[in-house]
Amino acid sequence: MGSSIKHHSLSWVRMSAFVGLISTIALILYSVAPITSAAEPAAGATATTAVAAPVAATTTINAGITDHARVMGTAIADCKKCHVSEVAAGMKTVHFLSADQRLYKFDGNTKKYADALGIKQTELLSTSVCSDCHGTVAIEAGQKKVISGVSCESCHGAADGEDGWLNTHQSYHESMKIPREQETAEHKAARREKCDTAGMVRSTNIYGLAKACYGCHMIGNEKLVAAGHKAASVFDFVAWSNGEVRHNFFMNKDVNADAPSLWVESEKGTAANRRRMKFVVGMFAQVETTLRLLAPATDGAVIKQFRTPLRDAAEMLQEVDTPETIAVGELVEDFVPSRTGRKPEDGEEYTAAADEVAEHAKAFVKAYDGSKLADLDEIIEETPRYYSQQYNQKYGEEN
Ligand code: HEC
Ligand code: HEC
Ligand code: HEC
Ligand code: HEC
Repeated sequence: MGSSIKHHSLSWVRMSAFVGLISTIALILYSVAPITSAAEPAAGATATTAVAAPVAATTTINAGITDHARVMGTAIADCKKCHVSEVAAGMKTVHFLSADQRLYKFDGNTKKYADALGIKQTELLSTSVCSDCHGTVAIEAGQKKVISGVSCESCHGAADGEDGWLNTHQSYHESMKIPREQETAEHKAARREKCDTAGMVRSTNIYGLAKACYGCHMIGNEKLVAAGHKAASVFDFVAWSNGEVRHNFFMNKDVNADAPSLWVESEKGTAANRRRMKFVVGMFAQVETTLRLLAPATDGAVIKQFRTPLRDAAEMLQEVDTPETIAVGELVEDFVPSRTGRKPEDGEEYTAAADEVAEHAKAFVKAYDGSKLADLDEIIEETPRYYSQQYNQKYGEEN
């Protein structure tokens, strides 16, 4: 854990090194709007009972897909018809391959984890907990069924339904087909609001996107983790969304832009601002997700594994030096489990804290666009784009 920063590997250890670095930069305090929407502490937070209610520790947080009945799948929805380059990029990722590798084959670690949870081979492709993270689950003939690997809707939200977002999101006029340049500002605003209400997670909803990632990349199922499955990816929202997962082709099908090209156009955003926002928002999502998974957790060995991601993200937020990030840093101090894997007793308090973190995160996203966070560049510039080993082996290091 030396003082030098490794460029090739991202880890929480490296993040800790950044915390030291950033303190020495002495961030200025930015003038910002006060927090108005911080959550009321939940009733349980003040009146704690001695006995915590037993909760089944099998939490899976699927931020992207909440209703399987509305999942269409990339093929049926024909996303490719209008998003050729995005689909092509998606097909090169381990996301796309995950169902093939981990669900269709019943061997190696898949078999080991499945056996530990009493999951049969047929269940892997239907109702298993595995299918939610390693694939896209739709309902066919009343049954849950894996229709592909991790796909568009896993992150952007299920698209189907009369009031679903699929048709709305690409229609620039109520009745006529007109080019996007001719859409009125009113129609555009109404269209986007309709999409958001329908559960579409768009580029503007940067916190929603981050939470979709963490919902799969942090694993709260204690039996699964006890069987040897990772509890958490060493996740870095900036790096991990900027490598093999990136697909910002909307304005130019040949150029995978550094920041979402639609968002750059409509919000007058810049790639630098996007990275800064992602950096902070990723930490918020890491804290919120960790707290939610710790709430029902009882296994000391599992709890211990969430210690570092929770503590490091909270420390980093505190260093970012805004009212919202400092509030979360301070809030979390009481929730970091001990080195032995013991956590403070009350699960409900964890959930209440997670809710509060979510409110601070939303307030942060409202108050900043990244332009005032330039001091973070010192850290973020060290962040290389992340490609999986598998991707590098197939497509080469230079990509
Ligand atoms: C008939 C063409 C068409 C189809 C099919 C289509 N899209 Fe789109 N999509 C568009 C257009 C046009 C836009 C740009 C909308 C705008 O100008 O705001 C867009 C934008 C998007 C955006 C970015 C929105 C934002 O504001 O950041 C996402 C995400 C997206 N589509 C996902 C999908 C997914 C996933 C599918 C398949 C389930 C899909 N689209 C199917 C045409 C289509
Ligand atoms: C909450 C989401 C989630 C659930 C549930 C889940 N996985 Fe995973 N799994 C992941 C993620 C994310 C990775 C990649 C982690 C990384 O590389 O950082 C992974 C990696 C793997 C790997 C490759 C690494 C290894 O340990 O060999 C296998 C095999 C695997 N999972 C099988 C399963 C099986 C079988 C189940 C169900 C019994 C399951 N997973 C349930 C998210 C999940
Ligand atoms: C792993 C999660 C994930 C998956 C899977 C995913 N996206 Fe995205 N998508 C994102 C993120 C994150 C962004 C914003 C990228 C950024 O901030 O650089 C985005 C941005 C977009 C945009 C805006 C691009 C622009 O230039 O403005 C479109 C369009 C889009 N996605 C379509 C799709 C389609 C179609 C698929 C399926 C082939 C898909 N996405 C799969 C996470 C995902
Ligand atoms: C539906 C669940 C799900 C969502 C949502 C999701 N991932 Fe993943 N991701 C996985 C799984 C599962 C793997 C491991 C695939 C395998 O090895 O089979 C993975 C692997 C990856 C990898 C490759 C890691 C490695 O070294 O092998 C990257 C990078 C990645 N995800 C980034 C992201 C980003 C960025 C987001 C959000 C924008 C995101 N993921 C959202 C499930 C998900």
